[in-house]
Amino acid sequence: MPFDETVSTFPEHREPLLITLSSQGKNSRLVPEPFDAGDLDDLRPAEHLPVLPDISEVETIRHFTRLSRLNFGIDQGMYPLGSCTMKHNPKISEEILSRFAAIHPADRRAMQIILSSIHTLAGFLQEICGMDACSLWPAAGAHGELTGMMIIKKAVKAVGQDRTTVLVPDTAHGTNPASCSIAGFITKNIPSGPEGFVTASLVQKHLDGDVAALMLTNPNTLGIFEQEISRIATILHENGSYLYMDGANLNAIMGISRPGDMGVDCMHVNLHKTFGAPHGGGGPGGGPVLVKKTLERFLPVPRLERDSSGLFHLSLHYPDSIGMVHSTLGNVGVLIKALTYLLSVGPDGIRKAAATACLNANYLKKKLRETFDLPYDTPTLHEFVLSDRKQKDAGITTMDIAKMLMDAGFHPPTVHFPLVVPGALMIEPTETEPLRELQRFTDAMERIAEMCRSGPGSVRNRPQSTPVTRVDEVHAARNLVLTWKDAESIGSEQVSK
Ligand SMILES: Cc1ncc(COP(=O)(O)O)c(C=O)c1O
Repeated sequence: MPFDETVSTFPEHREPLLITLSSQGKNSRLVPEPFDAGDLDDLRPAEHLPVLPDISEVETIRHFTRLSRLNFGIDQGMYPLGSCTMKHNPKISEEILSRFAAIHPADRRAMQIILSSIHTLAGFLQEICGMDACSLWPAAGAHGELTGMMIIKKAVKAVGQDRTTVLVPDTAHGTNPASCSIAGFITKNIPSGPEGFVTASLVQKHLDGDVAALMLTNPNTLGIFEQEISRIATILHENGSYLYMDGANLNAIMGISRPGDMGVDCMHVNLHKTFGAPHGGGGPGGGPVLVKKTLERFLPVPRLERDSSGLFHLSLHYPDSIGMVHSTLGNVGVLIKALTYLLSVGPDGIRKAAATACLNANYLKKKLRETFDLPYDTPTLHEFVLSDRKQKDAGITTMDIAKMLMDAGFHPPTVHFPLVVPGALMIEPTETEPLRELQRFTDAMERIAEMCRSGPGSVRNRPQSTPVTRVDEVHAARNLVLTWKDAESIGSEQVSK
C-alpha cells in the first residue's frame, strides 16, 4: 500500500446487516421442513420464534466475505502486536479438531479418546514447564491467573495464615493485578530495576509476613528474561511466600528452560498464544494452570484420573480443591489444537520455534534501534519495546506511527504498554514471519521516520486506506453509542474526523 495514498479504498462502504438484505422467498435453506413441523410450532409459541433473514446463499457468502475484508487478520500479513504472540496457526490443527468435532454425541469409546488426548496434553505441558500437576480447564490467560491466585489463597489458609498481599512488578502483564484483586488479595506494585528486570534485593525489601506471593511475568512485558528469578524464588520460599509465574510468554523459552526448575510454584500458560490456536476477539482460549506437588491438592475439580485398567475418569473427590472454574473439559477444542501443534512440531520443533521467535525480534530490534528510541538496552527475547521519543520533536506520537503502519499493510504493534515506557511501541514479530516480511516492516518503519523528519503533516491523520479512518477517540469516549443503529442514523462524520 503506497504511503501517499490519501483516498480511502473503501469509499463510504457500510456493510448492511443480513436482516436488511432480507426479502421474502429468497432463503437458502436446503433442508426440507421437518415432518412434524406443525407440532413443533405448537410447542414453541410464535412470538418466541427468532426472526431469521430470508436471504440467498450467494448473498450470505458475499456478506461474510466482505465483512472479513474490512478487518485485518494474521492470514493477510504481519501482526506484530506485542504480548499477544500473533503467530500463524497451522491449518492441520483445525483439520484434526474438525474430526473430533464430528464425534458428537460422544459415546464411551469416543470419550476415552478425548480424555486420553487431553491427558497427553497435560503431560506434555508438565514436561515443558517442569511442573508436577496441571489443570486444563481455565479458558484464557487471565482465567488461569485467577485460578492460580485462588489456589495460593487456599494454600495459605490451609496452614492457618492470613497473608493478604501479592507483589506485582511494574513490568507485569496488565491482567495480573486484576486477577490478584478478584481472588481477594491486595496488590502491591513494585518497581523493576534500572535494567528492566526485578532484582532479588528489591523483592527482599518488600517481603514481610503478609506477602502471600510474587506474581512475575517472565519473560516480562519488555521482552526481558527475569535474570534473578531463582534467587527471588529462594527468598520468597524463606519468607513462606509463593512464586507465581505468568507463563503466557512461554513462546520465548519453551523447550529451552523450564519455570519449575527456576523455583516457580504455580503458573499458567496461554495455549492460544503459544500452541497455535487463534488468539483474538476474547477467545475461546486456553489457560492451563500448572503447580508443584505442594499445591496439587488445591487444583480445580474435576481431576482427570486413570484407573488400573487404563480407563480415564473425571473425579470430584478432592476435598481441598478450589472447586470448579469452568464447565467440564474447559475449551476442549483449544486443547485438541494445542496437542496437535505439539505432536506435529515435536520437542525439537518447539525449541526451534522459541529460538526463531527470539531471533526475529532481535533482527528487528537491531534494524530499528538507531532510528527509534530504545529505552532499555538489556538483551531481549521474543519482543522489544521502542518509544516515540525521537519523533516527538516533529509532533509525531506513538499513535501516529501505529496508525500509519496500517496504511503500509501491517497490524500496528501494541501501543502505550508497558506503562514503564512512555509512548511505548511493543513489537513481537513471532517465529512464523519470513525474512521478507521482516524486511518489509523495517522498510516501512524507516520510511515513517523519514517522513516524520521531512514532512510530518503526511504522517498525521492516518490511516487513510481502511474502511474507518482516524477515529476521534475523545468524541467516541464522550458520545458512547452502545446499541446498534443503522449507518445512516449514526452518520459517518460522528466516528471519523
Ligand atoms: C503476558 C500475558 N499474561 C496474560 C495475558 C492474558 O491472557 P488472556 O488474554 O488469554 O486472558 C496475556 C495476553 O496476551 C499476556 O500477554
